Amino acid sequence: MDSGSTSSCLFQSVQIALFLLFISFAFVFSVFSFLIYIFRLKPLCDCDVCTAYLSSSWTKEFDNLCDWYTHLLRKSPTGTIHVHVLGNVVTANPANVEHMLRTRFDNYPKGKPFSAILGDLLGRGIFNVDGESWKFQRKMASLELGSVSIRAYAFEVVASEIESRLVPLLSSVCGKDDRVLDLQDVFRRFSFDSICKFSFGLDPGCLKLSLPVSEFAEAFDAASRLSAERAMSPSPLVWRIKRLLNIGSERRLREAIKMVNALADEVIKQKREMGPSEGHNDLLSRFMINIDDDRYLRDIVVSFLLAGRDTVASALTSFFWLLSQNPEVRDAIREESDRVMGPTADGLASFEQMRKMHYLQAALYECMRLYPPVQFDSKFAQDDDVLPDGKKVKKGTRVTYHPYAMGRMERLWGPDGLKFRPSRWLTRDGVFSPENPYKYPVFQAGVRVCLGKEMALVEMKSVALALVRRFDVHVADSHRGPRFAPGLTATIRGGLPVAIKERSVSSTR
Ligand code: HEM
Repeated sequence: MDSGSTSSCLFQSVQIALFLLFISFAFVFSVFSFLIYIFRLKPLCDCDVCTAYLSSSWTKEFDNLCDWYTHLLRKSPTGTIHVHVLGNVVTANPANVEHMLRTRFDNYPKGKPFSAILGDLLGRGIFNVDGESWKFQRKMASLELGSVSIRAYAFEVVASEIESRLVPLLSSVCGKDDRVLDLQDVFRRFSFDSICKFSFGLDPGCLKLSLPVSEFAEAFDAASRLSAERAMSPSPLVWRIKRLLNIGSERRLREAIKMVNALADEVIKQKREMGPSEGHNDLLSRFMINIDDDRYLRDIVVSFLLAGRDTVASALTSFFWLLSQNPEVRDAIREESDRVMGPTADGLASFEQMRKMHYLQAALYECMRLYPPVQFDSKFAQDDDVLPDGKKVKKGTRVTYHPYAMGRMERLWGPDGLKFRPSRWLTRDGVFSPENPYKYPVFQAGVRVCLGKEMALVEMKSVALALVRRFDVHVADSHRGPRFAPGLTATIRGGLPVAIKERSVSSTR
């Protein structure tokens, strides 16, 4: 054996030894962390709630986990429960919500468990960071989103998507009884096109008449779904080990993120080559003026895609489901819009006209009270604390506020709290009157309140008006309540199959 092959053999043996050492270390570390995790979670808690959770016996009575939590929170005298096996305090008490989102905001960051789950997809984007990095992005994004020019750009994007794609698509199936359309899918395509154009200046064309498959949309969907699934594994160690070994869902997640990154990098490169020029109104072009780090730019913009896509689609889907059950609300929206826009107006409503439609605003708020797109949201206590209702919270505990349950608490909304009644948001003079945001934290509230709220409302109003004024939307199975798929945003399992008809003359006009 010559000296060359001897040293290559030696090198291989060292490599194998190092690999085995690494695997053994990873195994011992994993077992150790798993034991600590189990120890902290109190897996042996046998209280009724934990037993029902662990045995899944709640599924006998409730279709959705959020409905079971609502039931428990309504029964709790303080509106707060503790799911010991999950180390999770869940609250529907507005005083507690204000405490965590405003008064003691500093003690309730998103925390490491959350940022680890979404970290590979969102990186250092606003949605996924705390502290100085969050403050910097928040300030910059608030300035941009508050500007008149970006609001006008957002309106332009939405208007063009409605007129050139959404209305033609629905018209193409109008009156054809055999054509059932999944309205949830249509709204997801619509909001993905809109948020991509707004954030990147890029048009994925998901809502073109042929409803094409967009590789980018598919990769983004897969990346957000698989990231959310991490939160459902019995222990974070499970996905961490799969990620280390690059197997199963973690392998698919890595591939999906690679695709999202490749596209984002390409868009950023092209924009850098073009240089700052007139007509680049999208968020990315605006952020590029102040930020040189391309990776950071990608992270910021991807956070916006996640924040603004599924939320709007989810709200619109529940809105049309609720209208199908409450045609009198649809008729009242028509009457109001006929009054403000004129009965024969064909185009979209202007900003000014939308501002005058108080009933429409009330109907959207009422819809999101019963079906908030973000059903619950968690923070992690940085230090020991006591909530205003007396609940003690230990450092590291996950504390969740639950907008879905809060919207269904009779003690907050009165005995008809489960009814879809937009007029509860109107004064006697028919003027929209907002609620205390800690009682209605649909857009979160306090220091970290949603930055896209106004934009989302304009988008939703534009779509609602365009469809309600032109079409009758018939939901195929409107009698069964929605069943939700697990994920970051409320999504109806199986979609929302509808048939589209011309607007019937009988209602108004
Ligand atoms: C109906 C539509 C929407 C709802 C219900 C909604 C709700 C929320 C909620 C609950 C949060 C807090 C999430 C958390 O911290 O874990 C949030 C944050 C945020 N939303 Fe929205 N959102 C909507 C639409 C939008 C749109 C269209 C945009 C973008 C243009 C947007 C941008 C953001 C951003 C950037 C944040 C992070 C704010 C921060 O961390 O400081 N949202 N939103």
